[in-house]
Amino acid sequence: MGPGPSDVPPSVLNAMSQPLVGHLDPSFVQMMEEIKDMLRQVFLTENDMTFPISGTGSAGMEFCFVNLIEPGDEVIIGVNGVFGGRMSDVATRCGAKVTQVEAEWGCIIEPDQVAEALASVENPKLVAIVHAETSTGALTPIEEISKLAHEAGALLLLDVVTSLGGCPVRIDEWEVDAVYGGTQKCLSCPPGLSPVSLSDRAMESVKGRQGGVQSWYLDVNLLANYWGDGARVYHHTAPISMNYALHESLRLVLEEGLEKRWARHQANHERLKAGLDGLGLQLTAQEGHRLWQLNAVGVPDGADEAGIRTTLLNEYGIEVGAGLGPLQGKVWRVGLMGHSSSEENVDRFLAALKSLL
Ligand SMILES: Cc1ncc(COP(=O)(O)O)c(C=O)c1O
Repeated sequence: MGPGPSDVPPSVLNAMSQPLVGHLDPSFVQMMEEIKDMLRQVFLTENDMTFPISGTGSAGMEFCFVNLIEPGDEVIIGVNGVFGGRMSDVATRCGAKVTQVEAEWGCIIEPDQVAEALASVENPKLVAIVHAETSTGALTPIEEISKLAHEAGALLLLDVVTSLGGCPVRIDEWEVDAVYGGTQKCLSCPPGLSPVSLSDRAMESVKGRQGGVQSWYLDVNLLANYWGDGARVYHHTAPISMNYALHESLRLVLEEGLEKRWARHQANHERLKAGLDGLGLQLTAQEGHRLWQLNAVGVPDGADEAGIRTTLLNEYGIEVGAGLGPLQGKVWRVGLMGHSSSEENVDRFLAALKSLL
């Protein structure tokens, strides 16, 4: 019940332990097609360029920036927690001129702030936003920001590492141009792959680059020769067992149904909230924009934040996350992600917390 990795269903673990085939084996190639198809259903997109990057969520982040950004490009990045800060670091390493739009940790990035930043630069190439900030528990609405970015001629990049599979993520409807997720949060798969998707507009931008993509490993032009629709050409040895796991976890997501899965995450968040109310505890993220899958719970005055977290782990077998940055010592981060989002987990956590307090 921390900020990820979440619990992994037995059938996903079982899939990982199946015998290996080669990365060009016909059965694996067939599985790649099924993974791409299921990822499109989960991202709610028809983008051709939809596949998993070999690497964790940060690799997906880096993939998006190295392909879309050239030195000197103007980039606007929302920073309202750890991961907006990481995006700024990655974009700066690509040579971007970064304008940060900052919000207090726990609050969302407001469209007005993005509009102001867009107006302050000459030729904005990209607006990048973390949809679900795992470090604070805030969910930034994206539709208005997307319109503003496109009106200014910029692309929109979205981090859905924590949102994908746990709450609505609508890539085509929101006109997101580049998106990356992670496997270990609401998809309930071990960490190791990062599902990504690029719109046609993003691919045109890649094709129009003046210089080559700085990274060989993450160059979408090369990766397309392996993951695209044509003949499969070896690029790197795909992590076979991780792809088995992702295939099974996506199958489970679609078997449950996206809407039902989102509703389960919402219901368990509300159950937790009601129980916390009963204990006199508050959720700290901005009201109306709280994540269902990551709940930042304010530590009450006088309580031993680290001591309670350690006892929860050692005596009750319940992991919760600590606060980061300005929230260090102030919140517990309680994950209700994917397979871990259950009534039983909520009730066990509440009972344990009550007895410790
Ligand atoms: C919102 C968000 N973005 C990016 C990342 C980085 O992902 P990873 O740790 O899998 O590299 C995380 C990880 O927790 C995250 O929560």
